[in-house]
Amino acid sequence: SESLRVGLAGLGTVGASVARALAAKADELTAQCGRPIELTAVCARNRDQDRGVDLSQAQWFDDPVALAKSNQIDVFVELIGGEDGVALDGVTTALEAGRHVVTANKALLAKHGVGLAERAEKAGVILNFEAAVAGGIPIIKTMRESLSGNAVSRVYGIMNGTANYILTRMERDGISFANCLADAQRLGYAEADPTFDIEGHDTAHKLAILTSLAFGTQIAADDIYMEGISNIALGDIEAARELGYRIKLLGVAQRTPEGIEQRVHPTMVPLGSVIAQVEGVTNAVAVEADIVGTLLMSGPGAGGDATASAVIGDLADIAKSQPGRQQAPALGRPADRLQPYKRAR
Ligand code: HSE
Repeated sequence: SESLRVGLAGLGTVGASVARALAAKADELTAQCGRPIELTAVCARNRDQDRGVDLSQAQWFDDPVALAKSNQIDVFVELIGGEDGVALDGVTTALEAGRHVVTANKALLAKHGVGLAERAEKAGVILNFEAAVAGGIPIIKTMRESLSGNAVSRVYGIMNGTANYILTRMERDGISFANCLADAQRLGYAEADPTFDIEGHDTAHKLAILTSLAFGTQIAADDIYMEGISNIALGDIEAARELGYRIKLLGVAQRTPEGIEQRVHPTMVPLGSVIAQVEGVTNAVAVEADIVGTLLMSGPGAGGDATASAVIGDLADIAKSQPGRQQAPALGRPADRLQPYKRAR
């Protein structure tokens, strides 16, 4: 039957992994979805770079907005990054043109998620963003769909692979902060601007999205207390260890009687706890809810292939969806049913 035509904007670490995986897994995906997922168009600045995949059959675009509008695609995949600019223009244009959207862009969603969810609903298309939070861990689908009916009291965890990689290697190998960060960048874990990783912005973006899903509220990315790991020295890590603790950069959102509390900061966790054992680029997200109890999901939180896995899963969901029979709304409930955000204190 007819293929799902994908337009991919952004061929960096994640985009190139997505293109390779779509090619390598074409038969498997066709079998699972009942129709092929075909990369028909791409948009990237550098056409000549070798990305380990043959893109000669795809139509090339220089402008993401032109790609988003193209009637040669059914889904616009946004892997450009940035909270505004061409990423926002591309996604908005695609939704308005009636294309489904898949994005890994947590900064964009933290700022514009509710408005984009509304647009997707109006247009009757799917907005998927599994790759935006905790890389390969299927936490969005879990919270949006599998935990329906649960009242969540708390969601927290390690949501930045770069920061966790740095903290792990400083402790294990005694390497300086700067060298650990350079390695994380070389391995393709870090954001284009790595201050987002080490100062907590990236964790805050992800937390803001999870908070909305957890509590059914508007996204409030500005109401997050934030402290990063750039001031953590080897001596702090050793001192924590002597006391029986390990330092982890955590994002925490919880419901209190007064409202919702969101924070991101280095936290001393007991050495024997599960969170303390989460090493390297691995992320871990815990959800405490009334029906299910406590869940903990862990897995690779950054890197091309792990993140591509989430993008491919989102595309497969769209390929399997039936026209007129939508999956869950982007933020778990219709956008006009989201409660106003009320902060604690
Ligand atoms: N820079 C992010 C991280 C990528 O290190 O976790 C995944 O969102």
